[in-house]
Amino acid sequence: MNLRLMFPKINPRRSQLKADKQTRAMRIDILTLFPDMFESPLSCSIIKRAQDSGLIEIALTDIRDFSTDSYRKVDDKPYGGGPGMVMMPGPVFDCFEHVQKLSDEKGRVLLLTPQGQKFDQAIARRLSAEKRIIFIAGKYEGFDERIRTGLDAEQISIGDYVLSGGELAAMVIIDAVVRLLDGALGDEDSAKDDSFSEGLLEYPHYTRPEVFRGMKVPEILLSGDHAKIAEWRRRQALERTKKWRPDLLKETEKKKEN
Ligand code: ADE
Repeated sequence: MNLRLMFPKINPRRSQLKADKQTRAMRIDILTLFPDMFESPLSCSIIKRAQDSGLIEIALTDIRDFSTDSYRKVDDKPYGGGPGMVMMPGPVFDCFEHVQKLSDEKGRVLLLTPQGQKFDQAIARRLSAEKRIIFIAGKYEGFDERIRTGLDAEQISIGDYVLSGGELAAMVIIDAVVRLLDGALGDEDSAKDDSFSEGLLEYPHYTRPEVFRGMKVPEILLSGDHAKIAEWRRRQALERTKKWRPDLLKETEKKKEN
């Protein structure tokens, strides 16, 4: 079988050696019909650095390699009629069973679909504690229902809109999760202050110059009084959340009540 196991732009042996030295490396498997779509996003910035340092290990597997058809077919017309094509269970199950055996960790299985639970920062945090995540990305028309029920997969959506497939959704989730891993960001504190980390939007940021086209940096940020700056930032975060995303405050209140 022509299995393609791809480690984007890194040497898997080197990555594994480094991963072994770490107390904990997260393994991410992606089952997809379009492995090439991942090449650039996974070889840049924080995700690239996390792979190079052995914090994460990413493996892409092409579902089409598990088709038993000479045309590498992986979808078919829906029973009962209707438009579009449906992903067949055979190639997805065979691909999944092959991938699962590539590591001792069973892993959390995520099926990317607009029908899933809506992804947010709390889910990102929960997933960042996993040792292994297995993403199954398919065509938007849908999966044969037996894929969901048979693979014990958690359905995840990145929003109430329909994408052409789960690939972009997987990239979004991987990015949000990896930046939460200890050591993924240059400055350990930078994920702590992110928007949503405490149910609030972020406070405004400024850098040089002090005056730009007549617009001044708020005086308080130049004062050197760290306690006052922290208080100002907290107030700003709260005001911005009230103004732009009042739904977040309601969510936080509800969580406190429960
Ligand atoms: N596949 C198609 N649309 C999607 C969405 N909104 N979220 C996750 N996977 C998808």
